[in-house]
Amino acid sequence: MNPLFGDNALKLGLFCTNGTGASQTLVPEAHETAWSMSLRTAQAADRAGFEAVVPFARWKGYPENRPEHRSGRVLDPFTWAAGIAAVTERIGVFATSHAPTLHPIVAAKQAATVDHISGGRFALNVVGGWNRPELEMFGAPLREHDERYDHLAEWLQVIRKLWTETDEFDFHGRFFDVVGGVSQPKPVQSAVPIMNAGGSSRGMRFAAEHADLCFVIVHSDDENEIRDQIQGYKQMAREEFGREVRVWTHTVVVQRETQAEADAYFRRFSVEYEDAESVDAWMRLQGANTELMSPEVMQAMRQRFAAGAGGFPLVGTADTIADRLETLSRAGIEGALLTWVDYDTGIADFTRDVLPLLEKSGLRAPPGPVAQAGAVPERAVTG
Ligand SMILES: Cc1cc2nc3c(=O)[nH]c(=O)nc-3n(C[C@H](O)[C@H](O)[C@H](O)COP(=O)(O)O)c2cc1C
Repeated sequence: MNPLFGDNALKLGLFCTNGTGASQTLVPEAHETAWSMSLRTAQAADRAGFEAVVPFARWKGYPENRPEHRSGRVLDPFTWAAGIAAVTERIGVFATSHAPTLHPIVAAKQAATVDHISGGRFALNVVGGWNRPELEMFGAPLREHDERYDHLAEWLQVIRKLWTETDEFDFHGRFFDVVGGVSQPKPVQSAVPIMNAGGSSRGMRFAAEHADLCFVIVHSDDENEIRDQIQGYKQMAREEFGREVRVWTHTVVVQRETQAEADAYFRRFSVEYEDAESVDAWMRLQGANTELMSPEVMQAMRQRFAAGAGGFPLVGTADTIADRLETLSRAGIEGALLTWVDYDTGIADFTRDVLPLLEKSGLRAPPGPVAQAGAVPERAVTG
């Protein structure tokens, strides 16, 4: 079974290790994009029993006419996922894809292939896109906001037909024409899990209708307000689409011996060493092309955007971090993607100090051992 649907009440995942992380910072210790780092951190998370490793899809960085900027140095999610799948044993392995960048026949087959490599641990994050210049590179204008989700829905519909239909089919939609469509082999999983993180009301309705994992940006620190946000989402999915969805969020972690040290480091990398050029461009693009939040709220979130793409801050001692994760869980969050400036040290510290606290509070069970990394069981490729 895909670990995304395992027993732990609060699932955990790594996010953004296929690039320079989620922070937009100029601290010298920020890491560069490197396969070796992706590999090490995915294997560490696998050993620690995390459920997910999620790459992001980025075709061009944020500041204009800065082709060398670090925000654009991002490994391709599908080929990256294939590599990660081959050297891990039980963690859920994601790819992320913008619908306008990849034909659904190619996406369906690549996804099925990674599902085979991983032995049924694959999941797909589907996105409509907002970084206008990166999508314009593909020779087509970025669609109007809500239409992006109509296009994404049809793209996903074609992919799901390719994953499930055994006979050839014709599909004539608003955006795609497929004649004699077929894709073999089918994925290992009968249904490949779908993630979507649309934040607008159209995006949330898309996720509620089509995704298994929906993401929210948690704005409040108040448990009741967070609960309302999540229950509202779940209720909408239930009432409008008759579906039960799992709600996850993404976070940024700074773990230190004292709260003061953690606060100081959070400030150091996200304020003192903020990559202002990048954050300005990011906010301009998000402001123009998403319907996430008002310009005022966006401005107030600036530090969180610099720190980790707006992720919920988990800044403090191991106890504080565990407390905050417990609050999220009590409020209804079922999974948290974690990001750090320094993933290697971050995962090691978190695994040593925070995981035992989450186990003590019953949110997670201790993981069993993994066999030798890279030992993937033999599996026949059948239809
Ligand atoms: C956890 C998470 C992961 C995301 N991954 C990507 C990504 O890899 N590429 C991308 O262009 N957008 C990504 N997004 C952006 C969303 O797909 C979405 O476009 C954004 O939240 C704005 O919402 P809206 O499109 O509904 O206005 C991500 C957002 C979140 C919260």
